[in-house]
Amino acid sequence: MARKFFVGGNFKMNGTKESIKSIVKNLNDAQLDSNVEVVIAPPALYLQLTADSVTKSNIAVSAQNVYDKPNGAYTGEISVSQLKDSGIHWTILGHSERRTLLKETDEVVASKTKFAIDGGVSVIWCCGESLEERESGNTISVIEKQLAALASKVSGADWDKIVIAYEPIWAIGTGKVATVQQAQEVHEAIRNWLKANVSDEVADKTRILYGGSVNGKNCKELAKEKDIDGFLVGGASLKPEFVDIVNSNL
Ligand code: G3P
Repeated sequence: MARKFFVGGNFKMNGTKESIKSIVKNLNDAQLDSNVEVVIAPPALYLQLTADSVTKSNIAVSAQNVYDKPNGAYTGEISVSQLKDSGIHWTILGHSERRTLLKETDEVVASKTKFAIDGGVSVIWCCGESLEERESGNTISVIEKQLAALASKVSGADWDKIVIAYEPIWAIGTGKVATVQQAQEVHEAIRNWLKANVSDEVADKTRILYGGSVNGKNCKELAKEKDIDGFLVGGASLKPEFVDIVNSNL
């Protein structure tokens, strides 16, 4: 089936009010492929500014994390219902930087994913292996373990609210992008796992993004692969070349 191309921009902990307004203006003014779903994720402090600045209907705004509890005594956490209240309908979850730096486990990420979806927020769910895990030949088993934790919490229509992002940790922020073959191999394995463990329908319709040093030059080759349905972009999402990445499937 045809899957709508999807490009996410993960600004991480970068930007100022002025720089983010400039990024959004560049996207508002750019000629973007109208068949691409674009989701940009600024730091939490700038979510409302970003949502209020976006004018294009195919650009949505995303948080970079949420907490998996209803509003209450959770100092510093980000509320799903308050995101909805602010007109924010997406969040990234399970980014490797949170899994490594903040020790978010597969189970915590899965719980946050289910809670976000139940609260009406769609999820860009991240997975990926370390260089050591790849070099020891454990890439697929690591990803399958992450997928199994996710599938233990979500089911049925929940999958309609999930976009998967494969981000090899060794390619994030390093300039060392995965080869087309490496990326396609893991994307195909993810889709095969979904087919074997969830359903043919979920496997066919779930978008699987590649993330890790994507830029305006390497995106077109990657976009040609049958199981690469888009990108989750870090550094390049802060630059004008993000437009080229959005349009890489043209
Ligand atoms: O979430 C996307 C990010 O991890 C990729 O970062 O800078 O390698 O594109 P970057």
